[in-house]
Amino acid sequence: MIRLQIDGQTVEVAEGTTVLQAAKQAGVHIPVLCDHPALTSFGSCRLCLVEVEGARTLQPSCTMPVSQNMVIRSKTPAVEATRKFILELIFSERNHFCPFCQLSGGDCELQNAALEHGMTHWPMQPNWNDFPVDASNTFLLLDHNRCILCRRCARACSELVGMDTLGFAERGSATMLTADLGEQWGMSTCISCGTCEQVCPTGAMVNRFSAYQGHKSQAEAVPTVCVGCGVGCQTVVYVRDNRVIRIDGDFDAELNAGVLCREGRFEALLEKGDRVSQPMVRKDGKLVPCSWDEALSAAAAGLKDQPAAWASLRLPAEALATMKALCDAVNAPVAMIEAGVTGPIPPKLGMKVEDKLGSKDGVLSTSEWRGSFTEVYNVHAGANFKAAQAYGLTKEINANGKKSALVALADEIPSEALLDAVKPVGKLVVLASYKSMLTELAEVVLPVATWMEQSGHYVSLTGTVQEGRQLVKPVETVRSSEAALAGLVEKMGCSVKADWQAVLA
Ligand code: FES
Repeated sequence: MIRLQIDGQTVEVAEGTTVLQAAKQAGVHIPVLCDHPALTSFGSCRLCLVEVEGARTLQPSCTMPVSQNMVIRSKTPAVEATRKFILELIFSERNHFCPFCQLSGGDCELQNAALEHGMTHWPMQPNWNDFPVDASNTFLLLDHNRCILCRRCARACSELVGMDTLGFAERGSATMLTADLGEQWGMSTCISCGTCEQVCPTGAMVNRFSAYQGHKSQAEAVPTVCVGCGVGCQTVVYVRDNRVIRIDGDFDAELNAGVLCREGRFEALLEKGDRVSQPMVRKDGKLVPCSWDEALSAAAAGLKDQPAAWASLRLPAEALATMKALCDAVNAPVAMIEAGVTGPIPPKLGMKVEDKLGSKDGVLSTSEWRGSFTEVYNVHAGANFKAAQAYGLTKEINANGKKSALVALADEIPSEALLDAVKPVGKLVVLASYKSMLTELAEVVLPVATWMEQSGHYVSLTGTVQEGRQLVKPVETVRSSEAALAGLVEKMGCSVKADWQAVLA
């Protein structure tokens, strides 16, 4: 162990620790811009300079390893004055006019550092040259005027994601962030995973979903799990006024370590159509709104005679277990609703999953991406594929000759194959969040929650059981899938005992 002193405090840390990390352990705050805990130290911005006793000049704490009996001072007048000067230089390089930036007011690390150092104005005339704004990416905006060339984005793209799409061209004040060899971002090999935007310390990269929705500090940060596919990435979801405004990756997560894919970070926030907000039964050929009691009675009456059944793999384990127990009671097998292929997922994440599985195991595939030589992964398994396997759901069933069917679709989009499979069935009961071709065919529609409106557990492909938290409340007439299925169990008078945990243990 190495013993050193930081601002008068003695700390003991492991060999190889940087001064910045040791300061963190001692509870001493040192401002940073280019440094990020998930990335290798880089030492380019010099904001983290500290005084090291015996050293001729100030030293960057983010790259300097600790040594025995070191004495560090992080808040001397010389250190503070140098940091302020560095900030003044950064502000002079490009247009960092904060009032016109949507990150201003709490989410910009550059502005926060400036305020911390008492900057109230620019002592040096800023460079008002126009730098381009690249709006070609569907999910992200890149404003070069706000870029401080800290390279967090490019390092994240290389170190965490494995794409190496982002890089830098030219030298000195002409240095520019580039995608590939100077492509428009939206035309480049970028897979829109958004990791670069999550680590960007300024308003240079903007998430189009969270822009103008308020600051992170105004929202509740809820740790939860992505239900886009079976990988089971851990996320931090920002919720404000019963609305999800942003999804970030969790840098502390063992598997995904802050990285998400396009679907997990952005597409999960897209509405999939008009909501089903009330129970409905078909009368005179038309679906009409009714009470839950009436809808459940109609559904129960139609499902007594060995129905066919399908369940979405986006359902929590609790709902899947209830569905299986209910169908066992009426002697009906349950098939998994085949999840669409998810991808591309970041190469480094795909490699980790493959490593843990020991092979692609029929659930991963790789492909080359837009002519680059970086292999990206696709996932062929829904969020709760492993739980569904454990409960004994089958890959497919033959519904020919069945008089009724129960489909727990929830917020899944029905595939052509599912629509074809249910068409010959007489009475169709559908649990759905959105109106679709499937609800159009149904006799009874039960309105159920989307992934963000209910809590429950998910088993990742690598076998970890994780909790998905409820993030927002649905309207009163919408129930969780588990509650809807429990209501059906009661109406059908089945003696059903569903223990979601027992089989998974
Ligand atoms: Fe240390 Fe940038 S944070 S040099």
